Amino acid sequence: MRHARAPRKEELDPIEMASRDEIEALQLDRLKWSLRHAYDNVPFYRELWDEKGVHPEDVHALEDLRRFPFVTKQDLRRYYPFGMFAVPREQVVRIHASSGTTGKPTVVGYTRNDLETWSEVVARSLRAAGARPGEIIHVVYGYGLFTGGLGLHYGAERMGMTVVPMSGGMTERQVQLIADFRPQVIAVTPSYMLAIADEFERQGLDPRESSLEVGVFGAEPWTEAMRREIEERFAMDAVDIYGLSEVIGPGVAMECIETKDGLHVWEDHFLPEVIDPATGEVLPDGEMGELVFTSLSKEAFPVIRYRTRDLTRLLPGTARSMRRMEKITGRSDDMLIIRGVNLFPSQIEELLEADPRLTLHYVLEVRRDGPLDQLTVLVEARPEAAEASVREAAEAELRHHIKSRIGVSAAVRVTEPGSIERSMGKAKRIVDLRKSG
Ligand code: DLL
Repeated sequence: MRHARAPRKEELDPIEMASRDEIEALQLDRLKWSLRHAYDNVPFYRELWDEKGVHPEDVHALEDLRRFPFVTKQDLRRYYPFGMFAVPREQVVRIHASSGTTGKPTVVGYTRNDLETWSEVVARSLRAAGARPGEIIHVVYGYGLFTGGLGLHYGAERMGMTVVPMSGGMTERQVQLIADFRPQVIAVTPSYMLAIADEFERQGLDPRESSLEVGVFGAEPWTEAMRREIEERFAMDAVDIYGLSEVIGPGVAMECIETKDGLHVWEDHFLPEVIDPATGEVLPDGEMGELVFTSLSKEAFPVIRYRTRDLTRLLPGTARSMRRMEKITGRSDDMLIIRGVNLFPSQIEELLEADPRLTLHYVLEVRRDGPLDQLTVLVEARPEAAEASVREAAEAELRHHIKSRIGVSAAVRVTEPGSIERSMGKAKRIVDLRKSG
């Protein structure tokens, strides 16, 4: 059945429903432009490609891109702060930066046209989420150097919504303003949405009675378990938005409310590939690997074959003709190897949902115990399960499930309600105590 909020065909950009041939023809034209632009204006690309013996003029088909080398975050950082810009600094009208866990941030820049493109893809994403002009959107993503707040902000304005630029934090106030302003749409990290749900309840308010109907959740990996939890607690639709600063920010790919079956990549601006992270070989659609992006229209900060570290696979289009990427459940950086077994936080998250005594507020602690890595799962009990004996029983059960389903022996601590620190933005799921000793 058609979702009441799904946009009608006439409301979409024509390219969203174009044929594959039309999309690929546009991509090839834009790819040639983007490669030429990077080669002519960014010394890094020119030197790298000259050295590898590849040249923009050699590209006659989309597959020819495969001959070009990959680019990593380390490459971009080496040119800190403005060395990767492809236009004179004076034409850069906005700067954003993503704070890495260590060292210098990655700085990205936008021309006026880039900001236009960005607003357009975010507006398209919001429409795919089921948001409508005239509705109110409560934006909780951080405003500032992070791309989340301002990215959603201008996209929402562009589509004609009323924007409440809240930014993160002050959870009590978030709830008060949601109650007073009655937004239909909220944009926030899924982990912080759970903290907002808890705060509703603390104030004696039922989140299901709130005005919220649609949540635009992203900036961190989240699972179907998390989606069910949020949809159930708020009686709302939860959809996934993806993006990264290096490529533009939020709005690189978006899930449609009518299908919720992965995220359509806005392929007219961002060309995706999936590669084998070990060999760099391009994998066919449908196979799992590392996502790589090439920007097709960006002026200030073109990226050519940028390795995201995000793991997913490409799937054919459904609600739109552009290809989908499967919901990202992990980054290669977040993969733990515990005694030879690969493990992502999302696998633990899926197990937590099955137990009504447990919340989805959790962290994974890894420490070194002699030659072996030791994993401890810390997860908060629901208020009804706060009693010590109940928590102990839940601990034993979860330990058993982790061993039998994932194949790892982990210690489990079910902690008291409210004891796990809430993130205001991206949740930090892994606490790695191996390096600090
Ligand atoms: O997180 C941009 C963004 C803001 C996306 C608001 C969505 C909403 P960065 O700070 O550069 O940019 O972080 C990018 O976050 O490579 C992924 O690892 C992760 N990420 C972003 N969206 C999702 C998502 C923003 N929907 C990095 N699912 C990316 C899983 C996501 N991971």
